[in-house]
Amino acid sequence: MSGRLPSKERYGGVYNAPHRAFLRSVGLTDEDLGKPLMAVAVAWSEAGPCNFHTLGLVRYVKEGVRAGGGSALAFPTIVVNDNIGMGSEGMRYSLVSRELIADTVEAQIQAHAFDGFVGIGGCDKTQPGIMMAMARLNRPSIYLYGGSAEPGFLGDRRLTIEDVYEAVGSYVAGAITEEELAEIEKRAHPTYGACAGLFTANTMATLSEALGIALPGSASPVATASRRAMYAYESGKALMRVLELGIRPRDILTYEAFINAITVLMATGGSTNAILHLLAIAHEAGVKLTLDDFDKVSRRVPYIANLKPGGEYVMADLDQVGGVPLVMRKLLDAGLLHGEVLTVTGKTLRKNLEGYIPPKAEQRVVYEPEKPLKPAGGIRILRGSLAPEGAVVKAAASEILRFEGRAKPFDGEAAAFEALKRHEIEPGDVVIIRYEGPKGGPGMPEMLKITAAIVGAGLGKDVALITDGRFSGATRGLMIGHVAPEAAVGGPIAVVEEGDKVLIDVETGRLDLMVPEEEVKRRLEEWRPPEPRYRSGLLAKYASLVSSASLGAITTPR
Ligand code: FES
Repeated sequence: MSGRLPSKERYGGVYNAPHRAFLRSVGLTDEDLGKPLMAVAVAWSEAGPCNFHTLGLVRYVKEGVRAGGGSALAFPTIVVNDNIGMGSEGMRYSLVSRELIADTVEAQIQAHAFDGFVGIGGCDKTQPGIMMAMARLNRPSIYLYGGSAEPGFLGDRRLTIEDVYEAVGSYVAGAITEEELAEIEKRAHPTYGACAGLFTANTMATLSEALGIALPGSASPVATASRRAMYAYESGKALMRVLELGIRPRDILTYEAFINAITVLMATGGSTNAILHLLAIAHEAGVKLTLDDFDKVSRRVPYIANLKPGGEYVMADLDQVGGVPLVMRKLLDAGLLHGEVLTVTGKTLRKNLEGYIPPKAEQRVVYEPEKPLKPAGGIRILRGSLAPEGAVVKAAASEILRFEGRAKPFDGEAAAFEALKRHEIEPGDVVIIRYEGPKGGPGMPEMLKITAAIVGAGLGKDVALITDGRFSGATRGLMIGHVAPEAAVGGPIAVVEEGDKVLIDVETGRLDLMVPEEEVKRRLEEWRPPEPRYRSGLLAKYASLVSSASLGAITTPR
């Protein structure tokens, strides 16, 4: 790292004796104090499986740092487990936690003068939160994923948490018994680790490799794999190497690196949440990335990964056939990736992938770009009179690409779920869930409870859903989220009325309210914002600072 290390400013010289006294108290010796001081920022919590084990990886990272010539101390961040908050007030804290985690890492690194860090994430928001901090602080740093859970099995059917949500919908529809639901519940998530499919956690881990800020191959081993300890140790060593080479996150997080990440996102049909997160990480890195970049890439990149929720397999299967490098090597060979970008190995992406030998065995997890599952990307951006600033649809997770139906609006997810329970949602309906955006939610809660229940109730092909909230990476069906502007700031979604015609056309990228423009204008003139859901505390603070979903729902000082 060029210039004097932050730790030397804080802990070197006679006047800093009091600061050193504290580091001696936690076990650092004279020799340790002479070395660069690195951190391990670990998102750890026993309150759910996703980050249950991450604390155990810390000692391997520290050993790697020591082997590379540094000292290391660890600190934790909070974790909000999305699937525990899902469908409740708790879910409003999920996206909010991304900002809290980024801010926590910033505060700890700055306040304690660390020279760099390895950040360990697991559950959905812990990952972009740490990556945002890497970009914001721009100190040498490496991202390390804690790994996902092994899949569950019911016979030879692979199960993930998505199956439990859908089973609830099937139970509501009377298609399965309570005992069958209980059996799925017991088998779905059999080990610690993040959700097993290519939902948001595995998507963000995959993108950490595509961005070049994690070691190649580190995303796919399951949480229980012994290779996790190896990647932890190697990440510690690699941190010391990037420090020595003077490589900082913003040298890696260039516009081309983000285009690579979007390419991998589209090719794998990853989570729509990644759009928010990549926009937010790019913002922290000072890179101008917009929804148009996602739109452009999605039109030219084929969808090649047969992974849940759109496909059949889970992350453990991708690991078996070669991991994320297999996907990236195919995309690089097809001329779809920028190969000259720098990565945390100190080498270019191309150099990393040249060293990768694709497995010879037949496999059905990753297809050839020339013979893809679908010719265009897994996620598409929609615009139109219902979403002038944009909306997001996961095309990979639905067979239906065009839908015209009657609007059934609900103010909040809970009301929609109650209507489903009363069997009031029928084929041909376009369920509109509003006031769940970044400000309105606040925190853009995910809608897995209702989307999975719709699919589980057998309505997945006959009902579409549109919301200014978000979706879980596990969501499937024709579900459009991130509608901007959101209802809480007077977006057109706020004035949709029961029975209005709505057109969704994924091919042409349109999302239109088929109501005369004059009528929409009249309704908007009469519209008044509702009272905020929270007047004090974290959610109220967040609502006052958060931006539009089309900008990544970043928080900015007023
Ligand atoms: Fe944590 Fe899915 S809820 S990764």
